[in-house]
Amino acid sequence: MAAYEFVDHEYDVVVVGAGGSGLRAALGAAQQGLKVACVTKVFPTRSHTVAAQGGISASLGNMGEDDWKWHMYDTVKGSDWLGDQDAIEYLVREAPKAVYELEHWGVPFSRTEDGKIYQRAFGGMTRNFGEGPVQRTCAAADRTGHAILHTLYGQSVRREVKFFVEYFALDLIMQDGACTGVTAWQLDNGQLHRFRAKLVILATGGYGRAYFSATSAHTCTGDGNAMVLRAGLPLQDMEFVQFHPTGIYGAGCLITEGARGEGGYLTNSEGERFMERYAPSAKDLASRDVVSRSMTIEIREGRGVGPNKDHIFLHLDHLDPKTLHARLPGISESAKIFAGVDVTKAPIPVLPTVHYNMGGIPTNYHGEVLTKVGDNADTVVPGLMAVGEAACVSVHGANRLGSNSLTDLVVFGRAAGLRAGEVVDKAAPVPAAPAGATDAHLARLDRFRHASGGTPTAKLRDDMQRAMQSDAAVFRTGKTLDEGVAKLRAIHAAGEDIKTTDRGLIWNTDLVETLEYDNLIDQALVTIESAANRKESRGAHAREDYPDRDDAEWMKHTLAWKRPGQGVAIDYRPVHEYTMSSDIDYIKPKARVY
Ligand code: FUM
Repeated sequence: MAAYEFVDHEYDVVVVGAGGSGLRAALGAAQQGLKVACVTKVFPTRSHTVAAQGGISASLGNMGEDDWKWHMYDTVKGSDWLGDQDAIEYLVREAPKAVYELEHWGVPFSRTEDGKIYQRAFGGMTRNFGEGPVQRTCAAADRTGHAILHTLYGQSVRREVKFFVEYFALDLIMQDGACTGVTAWQLDNGQLHRFRAKLVILATGGYGRAYFSATSAHTCTGDGNAMVLRAGLPLQDMEFVQFHPTGIYGAGCLITEGARGEGGYLTNSEGERFMERYAPSAKDLASRDVVSRSMTIEIREGRGVGPNKDHIFLHLDHLDPKTLHARLPGISESAKIFAGVDVTKAPIPVLPTVHYNMGGIPTNYHGEVLTKVGDNADTVVPGLMAVGEAACVSVHGANRLGSNSLTDLVVFGRAAGLRAGEVVDKAAPVPAAPAGATDAHLARLDRFRHASGGTPTAKLRDDMQRAMQSDAAVFRTGKTLDEGVAKLRAIHAAGEDIKTTDRGLIWNTDLVETLEYDNLIDQALVTIESAANRKESRGAHAREDYPDRDDAEWMKHTLAWKRPGQGVAIDYRPVHEYTMSSDIDYIKPKARVY
């Protein structure tokens, strides 16, 4: 192995990732007087939060009566009763505070006539425990994530968070079951770094790029999730992958659900507004799992549009062009560029597209990472937190409601910052890096840097993405899942023959893509094996061979381990069937009615 040297750093808190949750956590820890570093593989304002369009949910009640208890009911129902209700209560109660905080820091929200934050309708968001739609999603036109990300970056700089930009995080430094830091590779000069810390917060986002067609950026490779697996810790509920109903056909770019919130609707080849059949009450604003399945059925039954009858139309052409200009300027432009459509005149061709990972690193609602030791599935891993899409708190359960993600980022980013203030002792020394603790990190880097097999990374990645797209899709069966497991095990094993060509360490994108692929394939394997194992339908996990939700057997979280050189091991964690406070009772499971 080549000789490698680390540059050493010492911090109270190191945050990995600079999207909405990472920035909010870094800022929050800095507000507690802690010395904070943020390590990020892209410039902070290029993180994937920048692509969030439609908005952030909070029961402000600016556009009609609203209540956090209604928001809680919707989120529990949306999760198909897999969400932990203590965490969901925390999310929805803290949401208004988190949004006002963003407003005061400078987020340029769209406004009502009387100057309040504008709120739009989104799928599954209702008034009075499901009575009818409510406008709960706070929006900055259709560029809400962009506005939030830039504001949080500015505030973090103001709070003197130290940024390490274009540093690729390699692995967690673990000692006696506790995390004491993280290693990283500086992309512009090849230097390796060892960040020793009292607390590491993973905010590395989702792994949408395990699929062929995703709304996620190419950087969404779930690097933190994979680091957790390599540290011998489990991931939770990875079988639940959300398909957003309206990715642009062919390109995969997101067309916000806010488009339907502003009055847009879907049609099939007969010009029928088919959602009226599948969800007579919520129609086009049913939750995403329901709309994605309905679209897929329409296409399968021959009512898709286009020459191959393989997509659906989203109509905005009946809306006032002034509304489109004010509320949906971003997607109007995306439709023009990626589908050649003028939305004032023609419908947009759309298709359900991978959008969000409900699963991830198990945490409690303070952001602390959990593992299972003996019978205790809520054992806290000292020194390690996770927030944002990387984490599984679990507030989204089996299916996330649109616009609850930005809320999750800022509410739990803030919670992690607050918890850091409680658990990190400013006066204590930063833990030393134990001898040998980083040997495996270097061995992995070196193996891929000098990989001289016969199969290029791009080939393995393409095989993985196509297998996930076809076998872990909107609808699943035992047959497709078993085939998927076999394919992904074979693709994983073929990694022994991987080939890289650039042996350098400076801007070596060949090596970056290989490390990212290695991160993705572990998550893909855990996802498909968890999906094959869950024999019921719940939220985004729709099995045709087990069409019903089975609360007696399956109202439990999946935990999946994938240790280096080993297969996937599965165990379970109970769903929290209790709330955080006595203000609201546990919401009991109900049959699904849309
Ligand atoms: O449709 C959207 O604007 C996406 C929002 C979300 O995923 O929360």
